[in-house]
Amino acid sequence: MPNIAYINGEFLPLEDAKISVEDRGVQFGDGVYEVVRVYGGQPFQLEAHLTRLARSATAIEVPFPLTTSEWESLIFEGIRLSRYQESKVYLQVTRGVAPREHGFSLALVPTVLVTIREMPLPDETRETQGVAVITLPDIRWGRCSIKSLNLLPNVLAKQQAMQAGAFEAIFVREGFITEGTSSNVMMVKDGTIATPALNDHLLPGVTRQTILDLAQEAGSVVEERDILQEELRNADELFLVGTTIEVLPVIQLDGHSIGNGCAGPIAKSLLARLRAVVAQKMM
Ligand SMILES: Cc1ncc(COP(=O)(O)O)c(C=O)c1O
Repeated sequence: MPNIAYINGEFLPLEDAKISVEDRGVQFGDGVYEVVRVYGGQPFQLEAHLTRLARSATAIEVPFPLTTSEWESLIFEGIRLSRYQESKVYLQVTRGVAPREHGFSLALVPTVLVTIREMPLPDETRETQGVAVITLPDIRWGRCSIKSLNLLPNVLAKQQAMQAGAFEAIFVREGFITEGTSSNVMMVKDGTIATPALNDHLLPGVTRQTILDLAQEAGSVVEERDILQEELRNADELFLVGTTIEVLPVIQLDGHSIGNGCAGPIAKSLLARLRAVVAQKMM
C-alpha cells in the first residue's frame, strides 16, 4: 500500500478513505492536527508531536482519544504498511460527527484520521540557495499556540507569498514578528541567534526547540525574545524552521537582500547538525 489513511479504525488506500460530511472537522475546522517527519522508517520527535497534539486537543476540550502507546502502534503500523522510508505522517483529531450546531456535546466521539504520504527528496537548490519571504499583517486569532485545523489566514498568506514569487509569509503583529504560515522564524545578528519567545501568538514548534537545543549545544548564544519587524531586514542571517522544511535559509525579505544575499553559515551548520541527529536516530 503506498499513500495510506487510517480512519474509523482501519487502514485504507488514501483515495478510498472517506469522512462524514457532518464531521465537525469538515463543518467548522473543529479539530487539531500534527505533522511528523519519518526518516528511514523512524518517526522523528514523535513524543514531542504527541504531547503537543494532546495539549492542543485539551485546549479545545476535545477528549484525547488514544494513549501514547496506542498512537505509537498506529503510526508504526501505518509506516510499515506504506513501506515508505521517507514520509510524512499527518495526525488529525476532530470533535466528531454531529448535526451542524455551533455548540457541542462533551460526549461526542472524536474522529481520528492518520495519513501517510511519501516525502519527496529534499530540494537541494532551495536549501543551498535560500528562499524569498514577504511579511504580512498577522490577522489570526489570539490562540495560535494551538495547532488547530483553522488555517484560513495561513492558507491565504501562503498563497499571497507564492503569488509574490516568495516561499513563505512571515506574520507581523503590532510591529513584532510572530511566525511563518507553517514555520517558525529565526534570525542571526552579530553571532546571536534570536527567535520570538513563546506566547499565544505562535506555535511552539518542535523543530524550533530542536534547533535551539542544537544551537546551544554548539555553543551559540540563543535569545527567545520579541523581535521587531525592522530587525529582520538588518539581520546577518534569517531562516525558517519546521518539520518538513527542516532549516531553510532566507535570502530576501520583502524584496531586500538579507546579509550578503546568500544562505548563511549558521543556518547551514544547524541543518547539518539536525541531519546528524536524524542519522544517529536511524542507526
Ligand atoms: C503556524 C506554524 N508555525 C510553526 C510550525 C513549525 O512547527 P514544527 O516544527 O512543529 O513543524 C508549523 C508547522 O506546520 C506551523 O504550522
